[in-house]
Amino acid sequence: MILSVSGLSATRSGRTILHPTSLDIEQCESIGLVGVSGSGKSTFGHMLIDDLRSKGLKVAHVPQSPEEALDPLRSMRFHWHEAERALGLDTGSTDKKTLFTALKIEDGDLRKRPWGWSRGMQQRFVIAMALISSPDLIVLDEPTSALDPVTAAATMDLLEQHREDLNTAMILITHDLGLAARRVSKLMVMHDGRIVEQASTEDILERPKTDVAKYLVAHRSWAVVPC
Ligand SMILES: Nc1ncnc2c1ncn2[C@@H]1O[C@H](COP(=O)(O)OP(=O)(O)OP(=O)(O)O)[C@@H](O)[C@H]1O
Ligand SMILES: [Mg+2]
Repeated sequence: MILSVSGLSATRSGRTILHPTSLDIEQCESIGLVGVSGSGKSTFGHMLIDDLRSKGLKVAHVPQSPEEALDPLRSMRFHWHEAERALGLDTGSTDKKTLFTALKIEDGDLRKRPWGWSRGMQQRFVIAMALISSPDLIVLDEPTSALDPVTAAATMDLLEQHREDLNTAMILITHDLGLAARRVSKLMVMHDGRIVEQASTEDILERPKTDVAKYLVAHRSWAVVPC
């Protein structure tokens, strides 16, 4: 199944922050969406998710900031049960222990509210919530920004394994071309609300065409980061 969106755009305060953009995502495909801060990556991610969900497709979202996904007034257990309920599952029916152990958050106290967990733990909890479903697509917005490199690599490995098991496609949004380079087969480069370049990861790394892609390639840090 190919997931298609076309003509997605967004305007805020009279300014176009996403110019009409179309995309086809093949089953199980992994695509990196890279660009400098403010280029429109998260905006495109949100528009893409809204559009696909409105068509009845199952799209999991790991937002850029855990605060977007977690209510500060609710316990972590409440969030987990809400995620299960939203998927039509019985509360407590998912294999939380295996996921939490794999993500190294098994010691997190579910009675606490989000601010009782570290930011990195919150980020992994949100990733765990995304993994209890069998989505057609998972959109990860800077999923490892609050994690140390070793935990980030382990988290990305777990995601990769789940994706393979479930045939889930992935959009990995990041300003870190190094992370994307190791995790996706295709890259899209965003600049000023437009996708200005897209090609295989190898092509972009070896033969970037636009100035912004050249800039990102010149500043990638993948030689030293394990994920
Ligand atoms: N609600 C809003 N009102 C006004 N401007 C907005 C709004 N949301 C986003 N923008 C602007 O749209 C542009 C794109 O923002 P977006 O968050 O999509 O960028 P990004 O590429 O995800 O950046 P980052 O790497 O910092 O997360 C930015 O210039 C931002 O200031
Ligand atoms: Mg963003």
